[in-house]
Amino acid sequence: MTDEQNTAGTAVADGGAPNVVGVPAETEPLGVAAAALALTPPEDNPLRDPQDRRLPRIAGPCGLVIFGVTGDLARKKLMPAVYDLANRGLLPPGFALVGFARRDWANEDFEQVVHDAVKEYARTPFREEVWKQLSEGFRFVPGELDDDASFVRLRETIDELDRERGTNGNHVFYLSVPPKLFPTTVRQLKKHGLADQSPENWRRVVVEKPFGHNLESAQELNAIVSEVFSPEQVFRIDHYLGKETVQNILALRFANQMFEPVWNANYVDHLQITMAEDVGIGGRAGYYDGIGAARDVIQNHLLQLMALTAMEEPVSFDAKSLRIEKQKVLAAVHLPDRLDLHTAHGHYSEGWAGGLKVRGYLQEEGIPADTRTETYAAIKLEIDTRRWAGVPIYLRTGKRLARRVTEVAVVFKKAPHLPFASTATEELGNNTLVMRIQPDEGITLRFGSKVPGSQMEIRDVTMDFAYGGAFTESSPEAYERLILDVLLGDSPLFPQHEEVELSWRILDPIVGYWAEHDKPEQYPAGTWGPASADEMLARDGRAWRRP
Ligand code: BG6
Repeated sequence: MTDEQNTAGTAVADGGAPNVVGVPAETEPLGVAAAALALTPPEDNPLRDPQDRRLPRIAGPCGLVIFGVTGDLARKKLMPAVYDLANRGLLPPGFALVGFARRDWANEDFEQVVHDAVKEYARTPFREEVWKQLSEGFRFVPGELDDDASFVRLRETIDELDRERGTNGNHVFYLSVPPKLFPTTVRQLKKHGLADQSPENWRRVVVEKPFGHNLESAQELNAIVSEVFSPEQVFRIDHYLGKETVQNILALRFANQMFEPVWNANYVDHLQITMAEDVGIGGRAGYYDGIGAARDVIQNHLLQLMALTAMEEPVSFDAKSLRIEKQKVLAAVHLPDRLDLHTAHGHYSEGWAGGLKVRGYLQEEGIPADTRTETYAAIKLEIDTRRWAGVPIYLRTGKRLARRVTEVAVVFKKAPHLPFASTATEELGNNTLVMRIQPDEGITLRFGSKVPGSQMEIRDVTMDFAYGGAFTESSPEAYERLILDVLLGDSPLFPQHEEVELSWRILDPIVGYWAEHDKPEQYPAGTWGPASADEMLARDGRAWRRP
């Protein structure tokens, strides 16, 4: 794929409203009226930073086909994200959304489903004029993934959209279906000529996690996908990489001078990366049981957060340079010898969430009584590089924990010498820099300060940066950013298969060990996880943060 194709269709007149190649200049991108505020010159737009002269990135002519469009992901994330992009004026005027599923729906039924999803979950306000233009490009193809006639209908629909809506043969196929259906779907796309691109048009495929359930299955999956698509056509979604605050890890580290000099084993005692949820598994027993917390979250989101926190500075922020640095970190990971002492896993028992009594994992609908699936996982790693040698990295995730929070905490060593009476520093902890991914997105620095009074007494205080206070614009949802990147062919935020395989190499021995040894330990819903997780850190003379 050439660069021209990557950015095809996006041409923006100097300082004015964007033009989209392939449509008459007077035709505006979807939602451009709604987005007019964002596009007016800075001096006329009270919400716009006068220094900000960036122009929006707008997708060229194209369409999006969603397989598995009746699922939760499509309804709660993908449909609202498409609408929000349209509302922000970032989609082309003839944009098409095709739903494919095993339902006997007409186009109107599909439109109603998208309408309801947008009303309930979209981030931006509902605007009739945006909706009208967007929904004219909706089509529904009823069908089965293994049925040739269904794919013939899909192809006819796409050809018709190319003629009627000017999608120009540019299409994304989003696999929002269970992984066991990936092979059938990609092979059908190939068989029916839907995966073929030419110098004039592109085809891309989006693969949702899980990318396999271990190294071997990830390699098999990759082999199947690459029979049909070349690497630059494949976009693997790890939605954490679409979060603004995750991208801010790179900004914090590499746009500033004051952090990098201390970002290493000389100054850092350890890293703690937490993704805690207060919800249970909801209605996802079918997906979750047999997968568990480590495969669901550590293999992808947490190892990606770790890679961004620990990697060296990339030579640029293009996809290739970023991947090279992330891969080096993942390849340098080593696991402790004693997995019994340095990992913990558990599942929630009955307890409390938001003041309500909630049931345990074993009582959730569809969970077998003899399940060994964990809903909490904690592991310790080290990274064998000069920068990180000897610095423990603790990762933990769990459902039904005390609160919802995702954060990366860099915990620094204590000062080598304290010129105070020991009683003065009894309440002084380790300096800590916390990057809060969600909620209350921001950064906190914790350090010691003198308590007012005639005595020298030093206590920890915090200095806080909150996104909400510093910026007036609300952040786009991760799926908004990622779908737009796929439409534009921008791949820096999508893991390549090498990263996926390296992550499985790290995780396989741990989940393999758990499968053969102890069953998950129970922890009451609403607490911070199993006792063995606390013991794991206590053994190292440390404690988990209580964020
Ligand atoms: C998904 C996991 O990848 O991330 C879910 O499969 C989890 O189990 C979800 O609930 C959490 O995402 P977020 O963006 O709400 O932190």
